[in-house]
Amino acid sequence: MIKIEAIVREEKLEDVKEALNEVEVTGITVFQVSGCGTQKGYTEIVRGQEVEFMLRPKVKFEIVVSNEEWEQKAITAIQKAAYTGNAGDGKIFSYDLRSVMRIRTMETGTDAIN
Ligand SMILES: Nc1ncnc2c1ncn2[C@@H]1O[C@H](COP(=O)(O)OP(=O)(O)OP(=O)(O)O)[C@@H](O)[C@H]1O
Ligand SMILES: [Mg+2]
Repeated sequence: MIKIEAIVREEKLEDVKEALNEVEVTGITVFQVSGCGTQKGYTEIVRGQEVEFMLRPKVKFEIVVSNEEWEQKAITAIQKAAYTGNAGDGKIFSYDLRSVMRIRTMETGTDAIN
């Protein structure tokens, strides 16, 4: 099992949600977060001047999928839906996930997410 975390522009929430619906993920969790990437939140940094991090509002998706095939489908869908081509479009992280349990049935592993 693989957990995908995607941090995207706030205004891309609906587009990414729709894109994930088309690849038939079985659940999503969405967070409102703030963060910055390599530009420290600034698109222009004053030359020679040290600036503090500026945190921008972003949306984070967490999705758990059963295998690498679904991981690739989800990542491709998110990338297409979240893309503008400008700095700040976001990032997609993925991790191997050790365990899952569906509370209602006590099913574990891929049974719990399919
Ligand atoms: N290395 C990182 N660790 C944790 N979160 C990150 C990291 N890089 C980016 N993020 C998160 O992703 C959001 C969007 O990052 P962003 O798209 O600006 O990344 P970037 O590397 O600066 O790429 P770009 O040059 O396209 O802007 C950030 O606001 C932050 O929440
Ligand atoms: Mg950036």
